[in-house]
Parts: sequence; C-alpha cells; structure tokens
Amino acid sequence: MPQSTALTQPSHINHDSFLTNPNRPNHSKSLQHVRFIDLFAGIGGFHQALSRFGARCVFASEWDKHASQTYQDNYGIAPFGDITQINEADIPAHDILCAGFPCQAFSISGKQKGFDDTRGTLFFDIARITRQHRPKILLLENVKNLLRHDKGNTLTTIVSTLQDLGYVVHFSLLNASDFGLPQNRERVYFVAIRQDLPHTEFVFPCLSVQTVCLHDVLQDNPDAKVIERDDIDVYKQYEPEQDSTGSYILPNRPVQIGIVNKGGQGERIYHPLGHAITLSAHGGGVGAKTGLYKIGETIRKLSPRECARLQGFPDTFKITASPAQAYKQFGNSVAVSVLVAIIKAMIEQDIFDFQE
Ligand SMILES: C[S@@+](CC[C@H](N)C(=O)[O-])C[C@H]1O[C@@H](n2cnc3c(N)ncnc32)[C@H](O)[C@@H]1O
Repeated sequence: MPQSTALTQPSHINHDSFLTNPNRPNHSKSLQHVRFIDLFAGIGGFHQALSRFGARCVFASEWDKHASQTYQDNYGIAPFGDITQINEADIPAHDILCAGFPCQAFSISGKQKGFDDTRGTLFFDIARITRQHRPKILLLENVKNLLRHDKGNTLTTIVSTLQDLGYVVHFSLLNASDFGLPQNRERVYFVAIRQDLPHTEFVFPCLSVQTVCLHDVLQDNPDAKVIERDDIDVYKQYEPEQDSTGSYILPNRPVQIGIVNKGGQGERIYHPLGHAITLSAHGGGVGAKTGLYKIGETIRKLSPRECARLQGFPDTFKITASPAQAYKQFGNSVAVSVLVAIIKAMIEQDIFDFQE
C-alpha cells in the first residue's frame, strides 16, 4: 500500500500554524488591547481562538455546570450562569462580544423584523447587551439551518436587528474541513462591525489548501468504545487516488465504508483517510456523538481527546469532565481553527485598528 504523507507522519493538526508558520506574519500579540466577553461560552472555543492573539476575556456566561467547570479548569474564569437573568449593565465594557448562541425557533411572520421581535429568544440577550455596551465587533456562530429557518425570516431578523443597532453585518457558511480540521462541520459565522469604525468591510477567509484526514488526529491508545457486534457490515474497501509520486490524494470529506445495525444516524462506519462526520452534542446510535470509524481491524468511536483535536483544541486543553459530558461539550463547541482563520483575516484587513 503506498504511503501518504498523512500516514507516515501522523502529526495531529497544528492549528497554531497560522501563528507559527514563518511565512506568515506573526499575529500572536496583535489583540493585546482587546477585551472580549464569551456568551453561551460552553468550553470556550471563542476564548481559545481570541486568547491566542493576546485578547483578554472579561466576562463569560454558561449555565451548564459541567461545561462551566471545564471552562474554569482551563481558563481560571468561573462563568456566570443564565444570561437571561443577568442585567446588561452589570457586564463589563468590552470590544468584542462572542456568542455561539443556541438556535431557537422564533417566528416573526407579520412582524417588523426588529429588536422587539427577538424577545423570548437567546438572540434577544445578545441584542440587549449590544445595545447597552456597543461593542466594536460581534463574532457569532450558529448552525447551518439558521440560514433557511422560517424561510430565511430568522436570518433577516438577526441581520436587521444588528443593522438597526448600528452594525455592518457579514456572514458566511464555512466548513471546518476547509480550515485544516478533518471534520465535516458547516456552520454560519457572523462578523458584525460597528459602523463608525474605520474599517467595516470584511471578506471571509478562503478555504485553505491544507490536506488532512481523520488519521492525523488519532491517538495511539484511545479511551474510546470499541464496537463488537454481529451486524457490522463493512461493504467497501476504500483506497484514495494517488498522485504521480504515489502519495494519496485525500478526499477532504467523510468516506462511508459500512454500517452497523440498520445504518441509521450514528450507525455508519467511515474510513480514517477521509474526514470525520460532524461531532454532535445530542446524536444517538451505536456511535453516538462521534460516529464510527474502521481503525485497523477495529470499529470504534472516537475518544474525547480525538474529538478535542477535531475541533482544533490543543492537547494542553484539560478534559476534566466525564467522557459523556466531554462528548457533549466538544459536540457543542465551535471549531477553533475556523475562528483563528477568521480572526487572522480580520487582523489582515485592519478591522481591529480602532482607538481604545
Ligand atoms: C452551541 S453551545 C456554544 C458552545 C461554545 N461556543 C463553545 O465553543 O464551547 C451553546 C451553549 O449555550 C449554553 N446556554 C444555553 N442557554 C443558556 C443561558 N440561558 N445562559 C447561559 N448559557 C446558556 C448551553 O449550555 C451551551 O453550552
């Protein structure tokens, strides 16, 4: 079997390459003057990305006690609880508001698509904090479905609410697979820039040429469930195409090669030279939350550490929760490497060149 670079040198993803690659400008201290707040903080995907550029977290809110504990264990900050119960005046001044907010259905049919129509949703909390503090930038993330929810009316409401509050709003659907992570994870990212700032135009980063595969993030001795059942059906032998040197041309997408049980959600088996499927906080099935992979002769789930790597968290990130909670936390988290790419593009487009 010809060797691919990925197989002979399985170095799990180094999303710090944006900061350490000598051919790129060093941005590691670019945001030392910037303070951010982390709403719906989870385990701090936004915190991971922004602190890498020197930005400082001045407030976090997360109501899940397990995620909150992981946040505290890693960043030394105890998040405040339910954001709906926090008076916006009690939140410290900040330059960036970050939020990977849960997408709640809100129907605005027949309404004016503005601030008041978001009442009763968690986006309303983002809006009221924005109205009070007028942060220079909002960085938001949500599921792909947000784009077509309620025939696009939800998206329109979010955008027009932010515009009414005085922001130029940019958004884009990006896939973690295109940003150096071997996970198929499409999410909508918003960059909203206060309209009085010197630079309000923004172009999202393009996909990177980096080719990676699930194999790159695997651990030698993973703490992951091995599946031993009679109804495993690996129906396909997969081998990627090769280039003229015999190296694999990796597919940059999940490659299904089998099923267990009836092949429902969480019951499909994938090849490690492809990408992982989307990590999920709630998914069920035999391979719940991570999917199933044929690693050597074994069919198994991914370990919590492998999930951390798939989201771009460094190995220094402490996984202090139970495996069940850790799967949920990484399934909920934002892909750090995508944020790092966005922030880097923002720096290069002078978005942070504002007066303190
Ligand atoms: C999609 S996750 C965001 C994860 C985060 N971006 C990360 O990187 O880990 C949404 C989070 O919002 C939290 N949440 C939901 N409602 C909340 C509320 N009312 N107050 C505070 N946190 C809340 C959930 O517990 C969950 O952790």
